[in-house]
Amino acid sequence: MKFYVPPQLKRLAIAFAVFIVLFLVLRKFLVPDSFGQYGHYRGDSLADNALPEIHYAGQQACLDCHQDIEDLKAKDVHARIHCETCHGPGQKHVLSGEASDILKPDSREFCGNCHGKNAAKKPGTIVQVQLSEHNTDKKCIECHNPHQPWEMKE
Ligand code: HEC
Ligand code: HEC
Ligand code: HEC
Ligand code: HEC
Repeated sequence: MKFYVPPQLKRLAIAFAVFIVLFLVLRKFLVPDSFGQYGHYRGDSLADNALPEIHYAGQQACLDCHQDIEDLKAKDVHARIHCETCHGPGQKHVLSGEASDILKPDSREFCGNCHGKNAAKKPGTIVQVQLSEHNTDKKCIECHNPHQPWEMKE
């Protein structure tokens, strides 16, 4: 018995063959060379990700030179706030030790970012003060030590 292949099936087989060849050719050109070098990703991306400059050093890096401040901070309400939360990215300063490479945020608005009265904040999480009423004639840090807020400067 002769095996009958319908003509539309032949055309379909040709179409499939064309698609598969096209797929392989495109794949060859579109997939980056280092793909699959280590796993299901571009091997070169490891080097790319290591390129951007490091900005944050992490609190541990500050303590080599400023353990005294951490000792104050650890005793009071700001214990869990890390240095760079207030002082900003510190990697440059860690390497240089220069005062000009680190922020010293001393405005009332700065403390107000966390402590300013704001109806949208859940009461009881962070103690809020009305900036426009609470000792308006001075900066916060003239009375509160930022590293130990309840150790008042008099
Ligand atoms: C290698 C030692 C070293 C490390 C690490 C270091 N500092 Fe300092 N830091 C210094 C020195 C020295 C000064 C004083 C510079 C001066 O007075 O000229 C200083 C000053 C400062 C000042 C005061 C700046 C000013 O304008 O008066 C701040 C704030 C500060 N450091 C924060 C940090 C933070 C945050 C970190 C961690 C991200 C850190 N430091 C890590 C050495 C260091
Ligand atoms: C809640 C915010 C906050 C945190 C957290 C904080 N600081 Fe500060 N820091 C300040 C402010 C504000 C000043 C400026 C004080 C002034 O001018 O009297 C300051 C000043 C300093 C100074 C200058 C010297 C001094 O005592 O005034 C150094 C050094 C410093 N901080 C280091 C650190 C280090 C290191 C950490 C982490 C262990 C840290 N700070 C965590 C807000 C903070
Ligand atoms: C990143 C957020 C943040 C910043 C910035 C910040 N604080 Fe705080 N502060 C806290 C948290 C969290 C606590 C502990 C929870 C609480 O008691 O409100 C706290 C506690 C306090 C308290 C004790 C409140 C109480 O009744 O228990 C005072 C006072 C205070 N901070 C003053 C300041 C001053 C002054 C500044 C600016 C130099 C400042 N804080 C900047 C987050 C912040
Ligand atoms: C003239 C000194 C002075 C200045 C300036 C000052 N405070 Fe106070 N702050 C106090 C005293 C004293 C208390 C405790 C008595 C009270 O609640 O008024 C206090 C209390 C607080 C409390 C706790 C409030 C509570 O209900 O428990 C927070 C938070 C606070 N201050 C944050 C700030 C911030 C943020 C600034 C700057 C915008 C600031 N303070 C400026 C003296 C000062």
